[in-house]
Amino acid sequence: MAASIWWRRLESAGRWRRLSHSHRRRSGGGGSSSSSSAGIAPALEGSEESDLTEKTTAKTFSALQAERHEQAERTILISCPSNINEKKFYKYLSSYGMISKYFFYETFGVYAVVEFSNKESIGALEGFSSIPRLQHECAVPFKSRFFNLRNNHPRELSAAQPSVPCLKQSVIPVNELLRKLSGAESIDEQLYTACKEYQITEENTRLRFLVCSLVKDIAAAYFPECSIKPFGSSVNNFGKMGCDLDMFLDLDSISGRDNAQTGGAFSMEYQTKRVASERVATQSTLSVIGECIDQFAPGCTGIQKILNARCPLVRFSHQPSGFQCDLTANNRIAMRSTELLYIYSNVDPRVRALVFGVRCWARAQGITSNVPGSWITNFSLTMMVLFLLQKRNPPIIPTLDQLRDLAEIEDEYFVESHDCTFVSNNKIKPSQNTETLEDLLQEFFEFYGNFPFNLMSINIRKGKEQHKPEASPVYIQNPFEQTLNVSKNVNQTQLEKFVTSARESAWILQQEGLKHPISNTKPWGLAALLLPTMQSRGGKNKKKRQPASERIKSLLDSLKINKQTSGYLSRPNGGRRYICTIAW
Ligand code: GTP
Ligand code: MG
Repeated sequence: MAASIWWRRLESAGRWRRLSHSHRRRSGGGGSSSSSSAGIAPALEGSEESDLTEKTTAKTFSALQAERHEQAERTILISCPSNINEKKFYKYLSSYGMISKYFFYETFGVYAVVEFSNKESIGALEGFSSIPRLQHECAVPFKSRFFNLRNNHPRELSAAQPSVPCLKQSVIPVNELLRKLSGAESIDEQLYTACKEYQITEENTRLRFLVCSLVKDIAAAYFPECSIKPFGSSVNNFGKMGCDLDMFLDLDSISGRDNAQTGGAFSMEYQTKRVASERVATQSTLSVIGECIDQFAPGCTGIQKILNARCPLVRFSHQPSGFQCDLTANNRIAMRSTELLYIYSNVDPRVRALVFGVRCWARAQGITSNVPGSWITNFSLTMMVLFLLQKRNPPIIPTLDQLRDLAEIEDEYFVESHDCTFVSNNKIKPSQNTETLEDLLQEFFEFYGNFPFNLMSINIRKGKEQHKPEASPVYIQNPFEQTLNVSKNVNQTQLEKFVTSARESAWILQQEGLKHPISNTKPWGLAALLLPTMQSRGGKNKKKRQPASERIKSLLDSLKINKQTSGYLSRPNGGRRYICTIAW
C-alpha cells in the first residue's frame, strides 16, 4: 500500500484504473516534481533512449504552469469524515458534474482533492453548500473552494466500510532510505533512488497548485485578473516532499497596464492611488492580502507579515496541506530563476540526481536548515552544482550566456534593466560528457573542498570563477541581478562547516570499502554520507568539533579495512587525486 499511489482517473467508458508508480512512469504520466515528463532517471527506467525521448518532449515551463494552473481552477479541496465511503462520495460529487480526477490524502484528518472536468461544476456545488451554523462561535461567511463534507447518515457509514486509500504527504523515514540506498548496486543508482524517494509527487504538485489557486481567490477580491504562481523548488524540479510553497502574486497580467492610447480625441485612464515606489506598493498590497488570508481563508494559520525584508513576504501555514507558504509579489526575477533551474533540470538526468544528492547530503550534515539564517541555502547549493557541471570537460550543461545566445526573439525577457533572456525550450543539445554520477559527486566534494572562496566568486552566467567584488565569505553571483550575491547571508563559520564536510565526504567516497556495496544492510556510498551519526555533529550540544577521523574510523573499523589515510589517495584508474590536508 505504501509503495503504490492511488490515483483514480475516470476513463471515457466510466471505468476506474489504479495506477502504480511503475506503470505511471512507463506511460510518462508523472511521478516527478512538476513535470510529467522530466527527471525519471534512466537507471530506474531501463534505457537511455526512453530518457532522451522524455527529454525532448518535456513541456516548456510556462506551458506546464498554465496547464497546472487551469487544472487547479477546476479543483476543490474537501475535508472528509475518516470513514468515508468512496463509492458514495464519488456518486455524490458526480451529481454536480463530471469528475476527471480525484485522490485522498491524510495529514491531520482525511482530505480529498477533486478535479472536475468543468469549472462550472464548482458553481453548481457552491449553490448547494451551506454556511455552517455554529453553537458557540460565528462562521465568517467567506465562500472558498475548501469544503467540509458532512455525513448526514452516520449510522449507515459506521457499518465499517474499508477506509479510503490515502496518500501520505511525507517521505520515507531516513532509516528506510538508508536501507534502500545500501541495497543499491552503485552510487549512481543510490543518487537516482534518493531522487525518486524524495521528489515531490504528482499529487503533491497538484495540491501545491490548488493552494495557490485558493489563495488567488482571496486576492481576486481586489484584483480579479491576478494570478498566484508557485515558484522555487515546488516547480523547478529540485523540490523535496515537504519543501515550502513559494508563491508569487502576479499583478503584471492585469489588463490595461500597457494600453497607451494615443489615437482619438481623448483617452481614459484609471484613477489610482499613488505611492512612493514599487516596493511600497508591494508592501501595502501584501499587507492587505495577508490580512484577508488571516481573517477569511479557512485552514490558513500563523500569518506573519515580513514586509521589511529585501523581498517583502507574507508567511503562513496552510494546515490542510501541511505547506509552509511564502507569498511574495513583484518577484519576477525569482520566477525567472525558477524557470532557469527547470530548464537545467531537463538538460540531463544527472543534473537533477546530483542536485538532490547534494541537497540531501547538506541537510543530513546540518549545512542547510529549514529556518533562515547564516547557513547556505538550497538555492545557493543548486547554483554550486550547476557551476560544477558547467566546468566539466566537456561541460554537462551550458552557461547562462550560452542559453541566452540560443534564445529566439520571443524569449527576450527583461525585468527593469536586468537581462533575464534565455532559451525557453529544449533546443539544448545533449552533452557528450559521459561521467558517472559517482565521479560527479566526488568532484563536487573535491572542487568545493578546495575552492578559493576567499578570492573567487561562482558565476553560472559565465561558467567561470571570477574575482570577488566584495568580502562576503561566499560570493555566488545572482545570475540576473548581477551585482547581487545570492549567498550574502553565509558567514565564515558556516562556510568552514561546508568546506570541512565536503572534504570529509570526498575522503569517505574514496575509501574502497565505502564506495561499493558492502552488504544490503551496511551503509556505503551516499548512505555513508547521510548517516544519522553525521547529523549529530551539527547538534546544539556539540562543544568542540570531534576530529573527523573518529567518525570515519568507526566506519572503517566496522568494515575491517585498513586503507591509506594520507592526503594522496589512490584512484581506481591508478591515478592520484589531491585532497587538502585536514586535521583527522
Ligand atoms: P527550498 O525551499 O529550500 O526547497 O528551495 P527553494 O529553491 O525553493 O529556495 P527558497 O524557498 O529559499 O527560494 C525560492 C526561490 O526564490 C528560489 O528557487 C530562487 O528562485 C529564489 N531565490 C531564493 N533566494 C534567492 C536569492 O538570494 N537571490 C535570488 N535572486 N533569488 C533567490
Ligand atoms: Mg522554497
